[in-house]
Amino acid sequence: MRDMVMPPPAEEGSWVYLCSTAALGDGGEAVPFDVTYLGQTCRAFAVRHRGAVQAYLNRCTHVPMELDWQPNQVFDITGQWLLCATHGAVYRPDTGACAGGPCRGGLVKIQLREAEGLVYWRTQYKLEPVAVAPVGGFVNQNLK
Ligand code: FES
Repeated sequence: MRDMVMPPPAEEGSWVYLCSTAALGDGGEAVPFDVTYLGQTCRAFAVRHRGAVQAYLNRCTHVPMELDWQPNQVFDITGQWLLCATHGAVYRPDTGACAGGPCRGGLVKIQLREAEGLVYWRTQYKLEPVAVAPVGGFVNQNLK
C-alpha cells in the first residue's frame, strides 16, 4: 500500500504588531491601520471598549464608507457605540453587529491580542498586511 500524501496544514494566520496597549483608551480614539482585504487595500481600526480591544475593517455595511466623523473618532459621544458619520449606522463595539440605523449586517472583525503591553492583529484568509513597496519603487529581478 502506498503512503498517502497529505497537503500541508492550512496556515493559521500570524500576528502583526499594531500599537502599544496604552494607545487604546477605553471609548477613546481609534488606532487606524491598513490591511489588504479581498485583494484591496482597506483601512481598519482598533478601539478599546469596556477594557477589551476590538478591531474592524473601517467600512460601513450600508455604503462602503469609513465610519470616522473626525479622524480616528468612531465612537458616538457616549463612547458606547460605534457610529458611522455618513448616515448614522450604529454598531456594537464588542462584536461589530449592527445595532441600529441603515447598516446591512455587521462590520468585518479582525482578531486582536494584547501581550506584554503590545497589541497585535491576526492575519486570516483574505486579510493580510499591506505589501510594502521597496525603497526606490521596484525590485529588478535581473540584477545579480
Ligand atoms: S455609509 Fe454608513 S450609514 Fe450610510
